[in-house]
Amino acid sequence: MKDIDIAEWSAKPFAEFDKGWFLLTGGDFSSKWNTMTVSWGFAGTMWGKPVVAVVVRPGRYTREFLDANPEFTLSAFPEECKKALTILGTKSGRDCDKVALSGLTPVPANIVKAPAFAEADTVLECRALYRQPMTRGSFLDSAPFEKWYSSEDDLHIAYIAEVLALRRRQ
Ligand SMILES: Cc1cc2nc3c(=O)[nH]c(=O)nc-3n(C[C@H](O)[C@H](O)[C@H](O)COP(=O)(O)O)c2cc1C
Repeated sequence: MKDIDIAEWSAKPFAEFDKGWFLLTGGDFSSKWNTMTVSWGFAGTMWGKPVVAVVVRPGRYTREFLDANPEFTLSAFPEECKKALTILGTKSGRDCDKVALSGLTPVPANIVKAPAFAEADTVLECRALYRQPMTRGSFLDSAPFEKWYSSEDDLHIAYIAEVLALRRRQ
């Protein structure tokens, strides 16, 4: 893995979120942490900083870690890890040791306390700057609300986070 200047990141953000998926990992590797698969989010510039936004439904166990500690990692993986990401995106860390089930290897990140993964080919280390629960009244078009939410209680919480570091397998 090699540190990359964020300005030089040649990402394909639409494909990397929608088709590639990330693991969103919060907490502290030395005590308690959790991870989940995410495929919704985006990367860009906000408040003069390089940022990513992720959206997390309130019931996710990982959400509790993000709310307790603003630091997290986003890790992207090669195609052969898809099965592991499916496990981590369909089971909850509340109920089982899903990381052991996935076969992936958590490793320390460089800056933040949340771990990254040895098998990842891209790791973003992030610190949340802003948290915004979505509201039904903020939808300008009701179609996404009707399609994706069974109740207002399930609306995503958006986290906009500064990207502190980026590493990529060369
Ligand atoms: C491909 C894929 C993408 C997902 N994207 C998201 C997402 O962007 N936001 C979200 O809240 N849940 C998303 N999920 C669902 C969570 O990963 C899933 O509910 C997970 O089991 C939560 O784990 P936890 O309870 O241990 O945090 C996705 C699942 C999959 C399989």
